[in-house]
Amino acid sequence: MTVILAIESSCDETSAAVSVNGIIKSNIVATQSVHENYGGVVPELASRAHQQHIIPVVSKALNEANIRKNKLDAVAFTQGPGLLGSLLVGASFAKSLALALNIRLIGIHHMQAHVLSHFIDQPVPGFPFICLTVSGGHTQLVKVSNYLEMEVIGETRDDAVGEAFDKCAKIMGFPYPGGPLIDQYAKQGDPKRFKFPSSDIAGLDYSFSGVKTAFLYFLRDELARDSEFIVSNLPDICASLQFSLVEMLIAKVSMAVKKTGIQTLAIAGGVSANSELRKSMTALGVENGWEVFIPKFEYCTDNAAMIAIAAHYKFQKKEFLSLDASPLPRMKM
Ligand code: KG4
Ligand code: ZN
Repeated sequence: MTVILAIESSCDETSAAVSVNGIIKSNIVATQSVHENYGGVVPELASRAHQQHIIPVVSKALNEANIRKNKLDAVAFTQGPGLLGSLLVGASFAKSLALALNIRLIGIHHMQAHVLSHFIDQPVPGFPFICLTVSGGHTQLVKVSNYLEMEVIGETRDDAVGEAFDKCAKIMGFPYPGGPLIDQYAKQGDPKRFKFPSSDIAGLDYSFSGVKTAFLYFLRDELARDSEFIVSNLPDICASLQFSLVEMLIAKVSMAVKKTGIQTLAIAGGVSANSELRKSMTALGVENGWEVFIPKFEYCTDNAAMIAIAAHYKFQKKEFLSLDASPLPRMKM
């Protein structure tokens, strides 16, 4: 029996999970609301909130799993990429615990864990598959050949798509993170009412900074004509913006299938909670006869269950860290 405690603290969620033989027994997530009024995550505040949350979150995860500390075989943590001050809290906690209990220490790549969230529950994708990994910090097309064998075949050259959602939401005066709010308002809106330009980057890379700028100028011009423009057209604005962003994501997914010949697809990361993206990916699969895997909502945004599952595969391969390992804010996949 292999018992792993996993910790996630790369951005603004403090999370702990316990897995037994790769089965998730608990997954506790503490979300930080302090950033709401700042339009984005404030690193110093995030780090402080992680320090406050980490002990209660870990205790709750162990209690819920009904596991005592002395039963743990390993402790895993998100080593990167992420905010240094946030990563440090999880890393220091994990290292202290590994030292105190004399157990294995495992470092996990945050985006690799998002991809591996597909292996938490059945049905699981077969290898190889292409995963569109979309979060607040990343937008990548990943060729997944095996649990720990992944290659980035396309990525954003500027903003991540989650960042584009959040920045456009901020322009409209929404609190952070605005992505889920755009999704909510879009439900009643017309996605074809307004058109925003998509990027013209060739190949499998993305660019989202242009849409953000176009959105800013669009609202500026409309507001000059009608100061109530946002309030009177909110659902249509949100639906149209969301449609444009998702269309850009989907176009490169199709291109990736054509380039690689791989017809098994998945989405992962915070933006994979977006209802338009989930719907469009499902439709893409149905239209073309491709197999598409959509993660459960609870495993889209940051959580430690995905860290635990990644750690399970690393434990099997005996990929352990020494106690002098440090967080890697720009860790490569
Ligand atoms: O993976 P995640 O929890 O944290 C990072 O690793 O960044 O992703 C957070 C991102 C934020 O940008 C948030 O606005 C976005 O995911 N997000 C959404 C939705 N839910 C979360 N964006 C659009 N629609 C959603 N429903
Ligand atoms: Zn994430």
